[in-house]
Amino acid sequence: MNEDDVGGQEPTRGMSRRAMLGWLGAAAVGAGLGAGGLEIARRVDPADGSTSRADDTIEFFGPHQAGITTPPPAALVFAAFDVTTGSRSDLSDLLRIWTDAAARMAAGKRLPGAFEIPGQSPVDTGETQGISASRLTVTFGFGPSLFEQHGEDRFGLAANRPGPLRDLPPFPHDDLDPARSGGDLCVQGCAEDSLVAFHAIHDLTKLAKGVAQMRWMQRGFGQASAVGAHQPTPRNLMGFKDGTNNIRDDDIRDLNRHVWVHEGPPWIHGGTFLVARRIRMRIERWDASELSEQESVIGRRKISGAPLGHVREFDSVRLGDVGVDGTPTIPSDAHIRLAAPSRNGGERILRRGYSFADGVDAEGRLDVGLFFLAFQRDPFRQFVPINGGLAVHDALNEYIVHTSSAVFAIPPGIRPGEFIGRGVV
Ligand code: HEM
Repeated sequence: MNEDDVGGQEPTRGMSRRAMLGWLGAAAVGAGLGAGGLEIARRVDPADGSTSRADDTIEFFGPHQAGITTPPPAALVFAAFDVTTGSRSDLSDLLRIWTDAAARMAAGKRLPGAFEIPGQSPVDTGETQGISASRLTVTFGFGPSLFEQHGEDRFGLAANRPGPLRDLPPFPHDDLDPARSGGDLCVQGCAEDSLVAFHAIHDLTKLAKGVAQMRWMQRGFGQASAVGAHQPTPRNLMGFKDGTNNIRDDDIRDLNRHVWVHEGPPWIHGGTFLVARRIRMRIERWDASELSEQESVIGRRKISGAPLGHVREFDSVRLGDVGVDGTPTIPSDAHIRLAAPSRNGGERILRRGYSFADGVDAEGRLDVGLFFLAFQRDPFRQFVPINGGLAVHDALNEYIVHTSSAVFAIPPGIRPGEFIGRGVV
């Protein structure tokens, strides 16, 4: 067997459709096989390597994909992929395989197939054997280019493209790296253990061989937004609490109004759209600025997180308050004033970003910042206008620059036996 033999069933070059179907056969996870399929998989690989307890696994199946309203765990590995095949059925097989592999990993199980056979390349890359699921979530999405690229309907999917799934417009001061932007598919892996998050992306990349190739990857740490109702607000690398005024997982009304999609092609109903922006911080400049400047830029106190003019983190933001000299307590160019729903037609977004630290540049400046991830019902009604205002007026612009950009449709969740993207491919 050569190293490209994914299913351990037959030697192939890369991941041919036959090899993928071999995997499907081995794992018996095709749509409709459901619990019976898992039983066969157990026979193929009796010791499934499960090491997890109920309290460290997040359910993979459900009406929405995990990793959106799930309180963010410590680590993120996010990857975008280009589809390299022209075959729609290869794409569909890949999504079935990815779905099955993700469900297994989220349950703390290893991938089925050869593991103890010296002559075969193990399906599971193995680095998390003995480590628990660590609250792993794996979330999949589809980029606009999957449906249409340079006017070409590559897979006959154009009629299925939801209206809001379009490339974002350029914004003033963007300095985007095309090699780190866009993508046909995305996979967001989040876990308490960064090795577990990486392993998910590693194995899915391996399984995609011959069908999709990784385009870019971003690692994140120290969740930079609170999503859980009872989650303490974390801090971003500027030292400010981030996510105080976020949509939280128990905000059912706002989730339905601002996050879950109810319109467009049926396959996206119950899904959402993800905007990903890698925002580099000019951290040395920020670190040298005075505390009062930092607090004016954000519009909140650094340590307590309270809006300026108030004392507690969750005190309401009163944009009309003025000081004794008649100037607004929250400055006119403060970040939270410009991002406030009242300035943006009542629109809100669910922010679920992570901090990143990618070393230093040639001048010795830290390449760190916020990998901004925001889920929403329609980026052109939400992110685009909000960021349009921020990009022009936000005092924070002196200290940040957007270096990558991508948008993805995130399909809804599934039941066992179904696969992510059913109804699309
Ligand atoms: C590195 C870039 C950014 C940093 C450091 C940052 C930081 C913050 C901080 C500290 C807060 C206050 C706490 C909170 O309510 O969460 C905040 C609020 C907010 N930010 Fe950002 N942010 C950044 C980029 C963005 C972008 C690109 C958007 C959207 C286009 C955005 C949208 C918001 C919104 C909607 C709020 C809540 C405003 C409110 O309702 O009070 N932020 N941000």
